[in-house]
Amino acid sequence: MSEADGPRLGAALGVVGGGQLGRMLGLAARPLGHPLHVLAPPSNAGAPARAVAARWVEGAFSDLEAHRTLAADVAALTFEVEDAEPDVLAALEAEGIAVHPSPAALRIVRRRASQRRWLAEKGFPMPALRVVESVDALAAAEAELASAAGPPFVKTDRGGFDGRGQARGKASQDPAMRAALEEQPLVVEAAVPFERELSVLVARDAAGNVAVHPVAENVHIQAVLHHALLPARVDEPTAAEARDLAKRLAEAIGLVGILVVELFVTRDGLLVNEMALRPHNTFHGADRACALGQFEQQLRAVLGWPLGDPELQRPTALVNLFGDLWEGGGGAGLDLATALAVPTVQVHLYEKAATRPRRKMGHLTATGATVDEALARALEAERRLRAAAGIPPFGEAP
Ligand SMILES: Nc1ncnc2c1ncn2[C@@H]1O[C@H](COP(=O)(O)OP(=O)(O)OP(=O)(O)O)[C@@H](O)[C@H]1O
Ligand SMILES: [Mg+2]
Repeated sequence: MSEADGPRLGAALGVVGGGQLGRMLGLAARPLGHPLHVLAPPSNAGAPARAVAARWVEGAFSDLEAHRTLAADVAALTFEVEDAEPDVLAALEAEGIAVHPSPAALRIVRRRASQRRWLAEKGFPMPALRVVESVDALAAAEAELASAAGPPFVKTDRGGFDGRGQARGKASQDPAMRAALEEQPLVVEAAVPFERELSVLVARDAAGNVAVHPVAENVHIQAVLHHALLPARVDEPTAAEARDLAKRLAEAIGLVGILVVELFVTRDGLLVNEMALRPHNTFHGADRACALGQFEQQLRAVLGWPLGDPELQRPTALVNLFGDLWEGGGGAGLDLATALAVPTVQVHLYEKAATRPRRKMGHLTATGATVDEALARALEAERRLRAAAGIPPFGEAP
């Protein structure tokens, strides 16, 4: 079916990728009557989206035939992972399937170096950076970009998330980074002495209508998102500038769907850290904080329903739940009751088949009259969980 037909009541939505983002999309799609059809590689047999998928197509991201099977009975296709293959999606698009966001946009965003190049070309503000392809160039860029804020961040072109694929300080002597260089470029970025980190979520439909969620604030521990706040604790001019930047990004890339951009707030203004063409961990609390969450907004943008006005309803905080919570507690697993006893706390577990200490296994959210009250509740729930598991605060050595 082509998008010219518009949204069809009860039509399925196809998604490439079977992780927690697909799972939450499926949960948001159901009340509007849309079943979710998922394509995921065989290695993802126990993936989080499995429990909510009406149809599960097994296939590699490079497998065009499997994608055709997925596309056979859906109103539109989207993706929830950067590893989705733009060439395959472009082939489907050429066959008349509505693919949103576009494969062309995915091709720009999916790799760090091409994303950075595109952002530079379009004039978006960024940290000082170099893209390097040899050990010598890496060593030179590390020396050049060292500053009072410390050594630069060195990041792989692909496969990096939750701080993986990153090194700081003498990366040119780091065996993992040297090995990575054999296969891909590295991005070397000056360390930014930021005051805060923000993310902005913008949705854009095929007619060019745009809706921007309230700006969120991110707090990372050891380069992985630990908690996030909606709304961010920033002044209105900064929030307005952040929303405006996100809108310009969406227009520049011809977005249909949703886009999230991570920003650094510095004394000299905003800098773009990275962007994604899909829902984002920061906004998992948006369905409580705002008039609608990010997954319903994604669904509306991709299928062609009117975008929702995501106005703020109630301050909300999110805390991620990592695999170490499951591994502690003498193997008893998560002490869910202790978290749920904290006022306003809700929990979403992703039902991942395997745990790792720093793997995101779920999240909890709490609301409050103020964002500080919401955060205090969310952190209290996390503190109780960690105490029950007998493990120290996230990021601290036992
Ligand atoms: N140039 C920089 N200056 C200062 N801090 C940085 C810089 N680059 C990364 N960081 C810190 O590390 C965090 C993770 O980096 P980045 O967003 O590039 O990686 P990621 O692994 O893709 O993250 P995720 O997938 O969790 O969003 C940032 O949110 C920030 O806290
Ligand atoms: Mg990031």
